[in-house]
Amino acid sequence: MKTSSVFPLLLITFSLLKVAASEEGFCSSPYSVVNSDTDSNTLYWKVTNPTLSPPYLREKSRSGLPPFDVERFIFVVQGAVTVSNASGASDKLIVDSYAYLPPNFQHSVKCDASATLVVFERRYASLENYVAEPIISSTEKQPLLETPGEVFELRKLLPTSLAYDFNIHIMDFQPGEFLNVKEFHYNQHGLLLLEGQGIYRLGDNWYPIQAGDVIWMAPFVPQWYAALGKTRSRYLLYKDVNRNPL
Ligand SMILES: *[C@@H]1O[C@H](CO)[C@@H](O)[C@H](O)[C@H]1NC(C)=O
Repeated sequence: MKTSSVFPLLLITFSLLKVAASEEGFCSSPYSVVNSDTDSNTLYWKVTNPTLSPPYLREKSRSGLPPFDVERFIFVVQGAVTVSNASGASDKLIVDSYAYLPPNFQHSVKCDASATLVVFERRYASLENYVAEPIISSTEKQPLLETPGEVFELRKLLPTSLAYDFNIHIMDFQPGEFLNVKEFHYNQHGLLLLEGQGIYRLGDNWYPIQAGDVIWMAPFVPQWYAALGKTRSRYLLYKDVNRNPL
């Protein structure tokens, strides 16, 4: 893998609301949305617009660094990779393991055999006096969290502290379980169904989904999931958090 094209071929950039790269990079919508001719000004116009890429790494490949001020999250779906820091200390990430690399953190991601990763990258929204630290861990090491009113099992892969401007949730549903509420919120989601199958409602549309399917949910899209099939549904979910969306 060459440095110049970090994640070739499969890089998917989700352009929500026709977001263009403005002077604020990924993080704002074009002025045409804000300065539309309508009488009412748009109250909500920011989207975080990260990139989500499911790269397949071939043997002996190595990643470059993300652009300046861009943070990176990688999760191993198949195979294994080695993440090293600038001092040469390295961790081997196997399936279900992940790494959070803060913006401008020198590192390399290497692959001896092949691997499939989920990679989220977004421009970090910094907050004075808060510093995001690198994290290496795995889903199984994370505690189950309370989900009042809901039956699914929830784990969060990143700390909920203010230093972090997004989180990754792992959500498990047994067959027949479903979200109690239809959700509706400003946060965006990028979802990868890791296991199982079910039906996702987005607005008034219903999508049968199965392991390997990816969904991007724009702000304020009504959303709901029901797990079908005979085995557990597990999905990985990106969510922007801890920053004022306005
Ligand atoms: C690399 O990781 C090792 C082990 O965690 C740590 O002691 C060292 O300070 C790290 N170096 C950098 C530059 O982050």
